[in-house]
Amino acid sequence: MTTTAEHLAPTLIRQLITAAVAAPSVHNTQPWLFRIDHDRVHVLADTSRQLTAQDPEGRAMLMSCGAALLNLRLAAEHYGHTGTVTLFPTSDQLHIATVDLHGRVHPTAMVDELFAAIPNRHTNRMPYEDRPVPPAVIEALTEAARQEGADFYAVNEPSERRRLVDLIHDADAAQNPEVMAESRRWTGVEDSRPDGVPAGALGPIPQDPATPHRDLAPGRLISARGFAVFEHDPTLAVLTTNNDDRTAWVTAGQGLQRVLLAATVEGLVATFANQPLEAPQLRWLVRDPDQPIGYPQMLFRLGYAPTAPATLRRPIEDVILGD
Ligand SMILES: Cc1cc2nc3c(=O)[nH]c(=O)nc-3n(C[C@H](O)[C@H](O)[C@H](O)COP(=O)(O)O)c2cc1C
Repeated sequence: MTTTAEHLAPTLIRQLITAAVAAPSVHNTQPWLFRIDHDRVHVLADTSRQLTAQDPEGRAMLMSCGAALLNLRLAAEHYGHTGTVTLFPTSDQLHIATVDLHGRVHPTAMVDELFAAIPNRHTNRMPYEDRPVPPAVIEALTEAARQEGADFYAVNEPSERRRLVDLIHDADAAQNPEVMAESRRWTGVEDSRPDGVPAGALGPIPQDPATPHRDLAPGRLISARGFAVFEHDPTLAVLTTNNDDRTAWVTAGQGLQRVLLAATVEGLVATFANQPLEAPQLRWLVRDPDQPIGYPQMLFRLGYAPTAPATLRRPIEDVILGD
């Protein structure tokens, strides 16, 4: 029996989109738009917010949209609706997904737990405690990635870690001026701006230049940020996918966000040092040859630290398209 599509209540729409936009996005560009159509939510990429120098193919843009999609699915289920997803439902390359909320469900305890973690997850660029992440926690994060069709592994082998740290520094040295100019427009922004990475979220500069780290504003705001000693033995981890097309990037974004929410539930914080993934000549080298073949999509630094402050989001009215 089919029933007619109903309209989603305005309060539910607000709850869904508020959860979606809390997702991480590259440089906090928030490159997403939503269209509500009866009881379906369409997720679209907003190319006017794409980092065209750093991310010409739109991989990071689609991963950001994938992260928002995962939050939207969790919110749908938390509020008692199925969130049935169709990826790329039309020939429009920017129409990333349709989430159908027609059916009713009881959320599982895991959905509720991950949903509750959404407002507590923030990228944390501070030094972490000198305390390893237990293997059982890494396993839980790997399971989270796999549930979304991605994979995740920690880099434990000392020689492999050194290789990765070298790649991070090679990528820093290879930054091209266009990418740096674009990055300046989005990072170290005023704390009141509703997008971009505010100065207060950049974190301090590592005293030891060998620290695996990504300084989003190299050479800028130095006295405001100061210097700090970072953990000596950071936990580095990589998220991979089996393919490397638009669908894989949305999958990677959903996997990323499920890993981050599961990490938040475990009391962990995370940041990223993705610079070698953005340089075509270095990206494939990030892959650990001892791991199954997969395309590296995100390079994490994980650990324990006090929660970082939230960054701002644009009002949801700005991301919901009219009819
Ligand atoms: C695809 C993607 C790539 C990112 N790359 C980096 C990175 O290399 N370094 C970094 O510090 N943050 C990175 N971030 C984190 C964003 O800067 C962060 O999500 C955004 O500023 C919003 O802040 P929040 O995560 O605290 O909500 C990335 C996020 C996404 C989704």
